[in-house]
Amino acid sequence: MDYFDVPLGKAYELLNPGGLVWLCTRAEDGRPDLAPVSWNCPLDYEPVSKVLLVVDTSHRSYENLVEAGEFVVALPTAAQRALVDETGSVSGRDLDKYGHFGIGSRPAETVDALVPEGVAGWLECRLLRVVVEGTSGVVFGEVLKAKAKADAWKERLHYVREGLWFAPGPAL
Ligand SMILES: Cc1cc2nc3c(=O)[nH]c(=O)nc-3n(C[C@H](O)[C@H](O)[C@H](O)COP(=O)(O)O)c2cc1C
Repeated sequence: MDYFDVPLGKAYELLNPGGLVWLCTRAEDGRPDLAPVSWNCPLDYEPVSKVLLVVDTSHRSYENLVEAGEFVVALPTAAQRALVDETGSVSGRDLDKYGHFGIGSRPAETVDALVPEGVAGWLECRLLRVVVEGTSGVVFGEVLKAKAKADAWKERLHYVREGLWFAPGPAL
């Protein structure tokens, strides 16, 4: 069996085929924001689920979640791939992405953020803490409320790296 050397700067891609999420927040001035985050994973379950996100400390979304102490993790579907790219190409510092891209939404039920319409589901979270390593903010969240379509995983969008996306196939 041949294995090839993976450059150290690319080794993260081996861990990265997890599902993409939209991090949805609201700024202190009231402007809602959303940003794609592919570096995310579960952290804990019973009695409540906890989640981890890695968010660059320069992002508006990071500033928002630290200030507000809450956020939504929404699950874009494969059909929303173009919108994911668009929302990841500009900062909420410069514009209201919901208004600019015409993203319909509903208010989250327990936190002050907007859930984009059409997602496979979402998790409403309170911020537990943040650990900053370099320019990465490792965000610890506790889930307060979660809603999803039946079999939400089937619709999810997965992102490995620039140009490499996939959607789940049939269950095994
Ligand atoms: C597919 C995709 C995945 C991304 N994953 C992450 C990520 O895991 N962590 C992160 O900090 N930024 C990630 N980004 C970049 C941010 O979403 C992007 O810089 C966004 O414009 C930040 O917006 P904001 O300043 O309004 O928060 C990703 C972007 C794309 C398009």
